[in-house]
Amino acid sequence: MRQPHKADAADIHRLISECPPLDLNSVYTYLLLSEYFGATCVLAGDNDTLLGFVSGYVPPERPDTLFVWQVAVHERARGQSLGRRMLQSLLQRPALAHIQYLETTVGPDNRASRAMFGGLARKLLAPVNEQPLFERHMFGEHAHEDEPLLRIGPFTSTSLP
Ligand SMILES: CC(C)(COP(=O)(O)OP(=O)(O)OC[C@H]1O[C@@H](n2cnc3c(N)ncnc32)[C@H](O)[C@@H]1OP(=O)(O)O)[C@@H](O)C(=O)NCCC(=O)NCCS
Repeated sequence: MRQPHKADAADIHRLISECPPLDLNSVYTYLLLSEYFGATCVLAGDNDTLLGFVSGYVPPERPDTLFVWQVAVHERARGQSLGRRMLQSLLQRPALAHIQYLETTVGPDNRASRAMFGGLARKLLAPVNEQPLFERHMFGEHAHEDEPLLRIGPFTSTSLP
């Protein structure tokens, strides 16, 4: 697992395209994330193959919070806790040691993602709260399910094994 670099952006774009129901953003978005937000993103690979990616950022007005944007694990690497382990590795970075909350949005029917974040919360011994954030009608003509906010915390990264 390592921090992404701009040279990874095209491979990240391909991985996301293979991981529905994630929204596929432009390659430019993944270039931006890799170049300017690498400290809060992580990728996982096997030799030269990209198997996992997490993007996130620290909202400027809430420096104690890591917002996780997209989590993708290639189909052939699923079921090995890679998603949770990538999230843990982010929280274990010394530069993120001050983070006490993790936020993300997860569709109500995404059982794998909910189980992954629930498992992380258990490891962190932290509560999970859920509230509406981005509702179906806010996506306009682009059909999309609700994206409620999950907030995990407070925790300290020293809770991690
Ligand atoms: C969600 C995703 C990242 C999980 O990655 P993963 O590495 O396979 O997840 P894990 O192995 O850490 O599994 C996490 C938990 O989910 C459970 N799980 C995995 N697939 C599941 C499924 N289809 N239905 C229900 N639970 C599932 C696992 O049993 C595990 O539970 P446990 O910790 O109690 O054992 C992966 O399935 C994925 O990339 N999906 C497509 C993109 C996506 O939906 N991303 C998240 C958007 S918010």
